[in-house]
Amino acid sequence: MSNMKKFYVTTPIYYVNDRPHIGHAYTTLVADVFARYYRQMIGADNVFFLTGTDEHGAKIAQAAKKNGLEPQEFVDKVSEQYQQTWGKLDITYDYFFRTTHPDHTRIVQELLQKIYDKGYIYKAQYKGLYCIGCEKYVTENEIVNGRCPDHPTTELTQQEEENYFFKLKELAPQVLAKLEGGEFSVLPDSRRTEIISKIQHGINDISISRTGVEWGIPLPWDDSHTIYVWIDALFNYLTATKIVEGKESFWPANLHLMAKDILWFHALIWEALLIVLDEKLPTVVFAHGFFTIDGQKMSKSLGNVIDPLDLAAKYGTDGLRYLLISSFSFGNDGDFSVAQFDEKFNADLANGIGNLVSRIAKLCENSGHDFTAVARTANLVMDEEIVAAMKNFRPDEALRFIRDMVQEFDKQIHEDAPWKLQDAQLIEKLELYVPRMLHLSHILTAFLPDTSARMSEIFTSGKIVKPAPLFERK
Ligand code: MSP
Repeated sequence: MSNMKKFYVTTPIYYVNDRPHIGHAYTTLVADVFARYYRQMIGADNVFFLTGTDEHGAKIAQAAKKNGLEPQEFVDKVSEQYQQTWGKLDITYDYFFRTTHPDHTRIVQELLQKIYDKGYIYKAQYKGLYCIGCEKYVTENEIVNGRCPDHPTTELTQQEEENYFFKLKELAPQVLAKLEGGEFSVLPDSRRTEIISKIQHGINDISISRTGVEWGIPLPWDDSHTIYVWIDALFNYLTATKIVEGKESFWPANLHLMAKDILWFHALIWEALLIVLDEKLPTVVFAHGFFTIDGQKMSKSLGNVIDPLDLAAKYGTDGLRYLLISSFSFGNDGDFSVAQFDEKFNADLANGIGNLVSRIAKLCENSGHDFTAVARTANLVMDEEIVAAMKNFRPDEALRFIRDMVQEFDKQIHEDAPWKLQDAQLIEKLELYVPRMLHLSHILTAFLPDTSARMSEIFTSGKIVKPAPLFERK
């Protein structure tokens, strides 16, 4: 991604059967970090950040019914909750995609018709066990104790119906060749290996329509079927570039972000569809890990589902970003220890960046000096280490580098002991610190946007005044 001219990043479009939780917030926050980072590096006009909601299918229809609402009413409501949550978390998406958008319906129908006309879709009888939680058929060897391992409280349903099938088996070798030939990448490497071996094990064609699901997009050539929700959903990444003005040239996506639970759809099925359509393939499909909360899987029945807004209310939006992203290596599975959040917040933010800002601003204030001129000399470039971390999809490493830099700075101040200095000697030191704080603000832009903006305001204000603490100790 070095000489990149444009950057198109996506999150999964989330199901609207329920409100957003911290799992959805995690991927979306990371995508936001990437979007802000590339806006800073290549210009805002060259970045397109897409997120949205996945609104069709049996699971959503069932949730609407449970809530006593018509599907459209229900999806409008939950989709709005997603948009509000992202607004409150300072997520700077460029477009919020909804699969119930009429233009999406039209485009998906056109694209599917094209695939059908090319002979890649046929009709056959299907019999299998379906997991409504995943919205997919599960195979015998995936079943654990008679249930899908990802949805152990949901009963599998036996389904037998006429479906239209997509010739995935025929296309899989082409996808594999393109993956191995570097035409698109699946990352991290461990996931790429998994995908390759799964493809080599043999692929079956997939059913892409349903007769029993009314809440969906009708097949253009046979309206007794609706399009399988996953096919409808995957197309969002491409149709967004056709729906949103001026974004056509953003295809192919540079980065599809998601967790490993849905990599399969993004690393094989999506590419197979694109190949038939003669469309370019996404550059990178990145699956981060799945996390648990205090060692447990998040679930409604365990009552440990965390609302990201609760955490943001306690730690602020920057605090939430910091805690989530720095908790474990991006790409690996991990665990959030909510009990340790306070400790981390105090150590790295309140006593770290927050304290550094207060200390230096206070010294500047006491000096009565005007720092306008020196503020202009700040070296506003991105450190190589951050560039490398972002190139390697490790925002957590970028944050660690920044944390270390703050610690170094603290150490240096301790050694300088500026509180013992006076007049010219003191000003000389402070004139070194102020541009350094502005550099810190610069590299924090994508990671802690609010903190970065406040730091920039404080240290470019000429007669610097100590602000209220940026992070209140917990
Ligand atoms: N609607 C589909 C995606 C279609 S994309 C064309 C879907 N939606 S979902 O609401 O279930 O979201 C799944 C995604 O939410 C994961 O891939 C991940 O991005 C995020 N996460 C949900 N829970 C999570 C964890 N516990 N850990 C990590 N990511 C989490 O699948």
